[in-house]
Amino acid sequence: MRGKFITLEGMDGAGKSTHIPDIIKLLELKGVEVISTREPGGTVLGEKLRTLLLNEAMHPETETLLMFAARREHISQIIEPALARGAWVLSDRFTDATYAYQCGGRGVLANKVIDLEAWVQGDLQPHLTLLFDVPVEVSVARLASARTPDKFERESADFFTKIRNAYLDRANKNPNRFCIINSNQALDDVKVEVKNVISTL
Ligand code: TMP
Repeated sequence: MRGKFITLEGMDGAGKSTHIPDIIKLLELKGVEVISTREPGGTVLGEKLRTLLLNEAMHPETETLLMFAARREHISQIIEPALARGAWVLSDRFTDATYAYQCGGRGVLANKVIDLEAWVQGDLQPHLTLLFDVPVEVSVARLASARTPDKFERESADFFTKIRNAYLDRANKNPNRFCIINSNQALDDVKVEVKNVISTL
């Protein structure tokens, strides 16, 4: 049986990556093989593109095209083979991030991303997307106390407001796929919410 594809999304500083080890454990308890991966990245070429994307200034459409170039490799080398053999794939970000960051944040036209999505993904869509949501002030404060910020993490609160709104808009338009996790509460409470969502799979 084909595996399930689960993605994690949210603004920088929303805390999604903290939950990856727990989610892997919860999924493994179901007796399935779990592949944990990320975007941009997940392959040797994808990680090289990630370094460029997170460090170099570039035109928003160049950024969009490179995200999809990395995604094409990721799908053909990692995601599709894993799903085909019945493994479950957990990806720290996928195409919703392009709609949020490149369309919402940078103003790239959604129609262009819709075309790239159809070209690169065909019918592939996540089975479930956990959107870790926090108010912008919380994410900005978390980032200020974190490691050296990358190109995206150095953006303004105004940029992050656009990202958050774009994510929430996508979640509202795809209620069957998205689960919004309130990440602005004590870590243990966020863990309970995550566990409840994973238990529905
Ligand atoms: P990370 O900090 O969650 O590892 O993600 C790396 C950055 O890449 C993050 O700031 C969001 C950004 N990004 C995009 O702008 N578009 C995309 O399509 C993806 C996958 C990530």
